[in-house]
Amino acid sequence: MRLPSWLSLFLLASHAVAAQRDYEKNDYFAVHLGPTADIQEVARLFGVKHEGQIGELSDHHTFSCSKGSCPDFEASLHELKLRKKRWRRGDIGLQKRDSWRQLSIELGGILWAEQQHLRHRHVKRIPPPGPLVSRQDKADGGTDAEQQEAIQRLNSIAETLDISDPIFKEQWHLFNPLQLGHDLNVTGVWLDGITGNGTISAVIDDGLDMDSNDLKDNYYAAGSYDFNDKGPDPKPRLFDDKHGTRCAGEIAAVKNNVCGVGMAYDSKVAGLRILSKPISDEDEATAINYHYQENDIYSCSWGPPDDGATMEAPGILIQRAMVNGIQSGRGGLGSVFVFAAGNGAASEDNCNFDGYTNSIYSITVGGIDRAGNHPYYSEACSAQLVVTYSSGHNDAIHTTDVGVDKCYTGHGGTSAAGPLVVGTVALALSARPDLSWRDLQYLCVETAIPIHLDDGSWQNTTIGKKFSHTYGYGKVDAYLFVEAAKSFVPVKAQAWFHSPWLSVQHEIPEGDQGLAASFNVTQQMLDEANLERLEHVTVTMNVKHGKRGDLSADLISPDGVVSHLAVTRRPDVADTGYDDWTFMSVAHWGESGIGKWTVVVKDTRENEFNGTFIDWRLNLWGESINEQIQGLHPLPDEHDDDHETATAIVSTTSVDAAPSPTSLAAKPTDHIDRPTKPKPGDDSDTTATAPTTSTGSEAAATTTGAVEPTHTYSDSFLPSFFPTFGVSKRTQIWIYGSIGLIIVFCAGLGVYFVLQRRKRLRNNPRDAYEFEMVGDADDDEQQGLNNRRTRTGKGRARRGGELYDAFAGESDDDDDLYSEDDTYQDTPSNDTSTGSRGDSPAGREK
Ligand SMILES: *[C@@H]1O[C@H](CO)[C@@H](O)[C@H](O)[C@H]1NC(C)=O
Ligand SMILES: *[C@@H]1O[C@H](CO)[C@@H](O)[C@H](O)[C@H]1NC(C)=O
Ligand SMILES: *[C@@H]1O[C@H](CO)[C@@H](O)[C@H](O)[C@H]1NC(C)=O
Ligand SMILES: *[C@@H]1O[C@H](CO)[C@@H](O)[C@H](O)[C@H]1NC(C)=O
Ligand SMILES: *[C@@H]1O[C@H](CO)[C@@H](O)[C@H](O)[C@H]1NC(C)=O
Repeated sequence: MRLPSWLSLFLLASHAVAAQRDYEKNDYFAVHLGPTADIQEVARLFGVKHEGQIGELSDHHTFSCSKGSCPDFEASLHELKLRKKRWRRGDIGLQKRDSWRQLSIELGGILWAEQQHLRHRHVKRIPPPGPLVSRQDKADGGTDAEQQEAIQRLNSIAETLDISDPIFKEQWHLFNPLQLGHDLNVTGVWLDGITGNGTISAVIDDGLDMDSNDLKDNYYAAGSYDFNDKGPDPKPRLFDDKHGTRCAGEIAAVKNNVCGVGMAYDSKVAGLRILSKPISDEDEATAINYHYQENDIYSCSWGPPDDGATMEAPGILIQRAMVNGIQSGRGGLGSVFVFAAGNGAASEDNCNFDGYTNSIYSITVGGIDRAGNHPYYSEACSAQLVVTYSSGHNDAIHTTDVGVDKCYTGHGGTSAAGPLVVGTVALALSARPDLSWRDLQYLCVETAIPIHLDDGSWQNTTIGKKFSHTYGYGKVDAYLFVEAAKSFVPVKAQAWFHSPWLSVQHEIPEGDQGLAASFNVTQQMLDEANLERLEHVTVTMNVKHGKRGDLSADLISPDGVVSHLAVTRRPDVADTGYDDWTFMSVAHWGESGIGKWTVVVKDTRENEFNGTFIDWRLNLWGESINEQIQGLHPLPDEHDDDHETATAIVSTTSVDAAPSPTSLAAKPTDHIDRPTKPKPGDDSDTTATAPTTSTGSEAAATTTGAVEPTHTYSDSFLPSFFPTFGVSKRTQIWIYGSIGLIIVFCAGLGVYFVLQRRKRLRNNPRDAYEFEMVGDADDDEQQGLNNRRTRTGKGRARRGGELYDAFAGESDDDDDLYSEDDTYQDTPSNDTSTGSRGDSPAGREK
């Protein structure tokens, strides 16, 4: 029955009034309260209204007042923010700390607050138009005879399973009778009786057509919600609200006589509608924890624009909700977040520039096409776990569409790949509901099949796996995944190790050379951290640069595995550098973590834009040694609250143990048995002819000649990384006539830098290796030091600034977002050319 539109509008509106925020009339504040705070007391104190808890985040609440009517509240929160910022900036001292804690108490126990704003933030991951590939089915597939046989097998499978869905046989991603082997290999799972019963996936998107005959029997209403129009049903309402329904069909389209089937056709699917209108962080945080005891898997085929220029991560509230999800969702086994890697490959975008896809809490999924090739759109990155089938090679994913009996044949981009992994996980959970969010990531690593092994993108990893930035650990095979799940022994609780903040404070050479900084992880550190073996590695870094897209960053592990954390991006002209950004890699899965980790930052283009590597921090995440004593990681940012910012500085300045420059010569793989402090005399064993004329100290003090790179960091870092220093000695550096300054500061941990700028050299070469000397030397460096301290307290994203600029900073952010959106709008896209959402990027699907 169709209601007259005025009536449905009325109903919608009246419903909306009940729950919806009215941003025209009111101001809303997300507030984190201390555990002893009294909510009503806070409300009374400031004359604000308590709107309720934010989703599943305990101690997080929304307060409101009519627009502009609670200046005292705003001013107090602002003052709290300032004091906290000052404390974190490193004007340390207990007084400063007490100053914000004292205020926090005066404010009734408010620890953190952020005014809420409505924003369009995400784009759907439908691919931009790209090259068509002519159809070559026969050429790529098997012989005629093989294809005939495959078709017969398909027919017999359909008969055995009683699948009479009319487009089932077009759903090549489930069973591909033309390009043999190019499918998810799922039919064997079904034949074993595993079809998803008992699992629920939630599609966070632009709606879900629960009235579709292909979905309604599997629709899970209780786990669904419309955050855009505030109501229980995530019904698609805009003309292009089709994306979520198509994704849902891939996961859980019902086995019936409508369209096709989903990967887990006896599983349930919920819809959470967030992409159709601007929403607040509060709403998004609520959505990703929505009914998280029942919803097992969250399917997310969206993210910041894939324009090769955006670098954006979720706000703190959303980050906290994700961590809350993996810690408390699913009875503590953890919500499973699956994200589409992104479709910006043609714009040189990379999924490590997206704070959702590079989160350790998400399974990031890229695409391959019908012939198993890498499609032009699918982004690479070190955070990508797996790939699976999607559009390209002249075809796309065939699935359900919005409408009672409507099907769609053109679903594509990494948007369409993600939900197929959601379906795979749903099958695995159906067999093994006791697996944790990390167990499922292990299953990805262990069962994915490497493809195109000869394309030069693959590395051997420590545990005998192969990793490619283009394909992650390979393509998903649902049968292998579920088989492995059946007997998987759950891993122990997650542990982590955070290095101190490691200050670098040096200019980055332009061109082929890189600036390298290392950190030595010891067995003792990991023992103390209760960390047995690695899963994810994250590196948070601050690099200032005039044109961010010129930069790249690599991480080299003790075992010599290389993660391209960041790549150059031509469209990225931001002058912000990497501002407290966290990169992630899954390439080091299974390594011990012990030994020297090196970050190499390069400024690849010789132009007027230069930069400085400020500091970084290495974070190792993995399986604990002793699960019994392992706690849960604090929610994001709270950790830094408690982390003594001074620690890092103190430790890096107490350079008593500073290795001589010689020890820096180590190749990445050398370090473990390298003596910490080789005697100076040992230096000369290499190029013996080297004149040691201007020895380090004098040269440092006086020379002003041309600055030449001493350290060539070749693109194929291994094994010739640091060729110049291979066995190197300080003397050798000078022999090469270049000015190299290697700074080591330690704390028993060596951090070193290769410098080219002579002005950095000090009279006393020994001092030159000490942080303190560098830091005190001149103003810009001192400035940098301050910046580094500032950074410590910030969130990981550009928007992390909200922590300090919760109110003042918002409009800037908005401007940024919208201008990016505009650019993005210039690219035509399949679905979204009409203008009803011209002001938003939301029409862009991936
Ligand atoms: C695909 O599934 C079949 C069982 O249906 C299994 O024997 C096979 O190992 C799986 N994977 C591959 C790559 O064939
Ligand atoms: C799904 O599992 C429930 C019990 O967990 C069972 O009652 C039901 O019959 C199963 N459905 C199918 C289709 O296997
Ligand atoms: C990885 O190891 C295999 C042997 O297991 C070897 O053939 C191959 O060359 C190695 N690949 C790389 C990139 O080192
Ligand atoms: C770029 O180089 C100039 C001149 O050496 C220097 O003053 C400036 O600080 C550098 N910029 C960055 C971001 O390092
Ligand atoms: C790193 O730590 C290990 C273990 O303490 C030590 O043996 C090694 O010499 C150190 N390496 C460097 C380069 O400091």
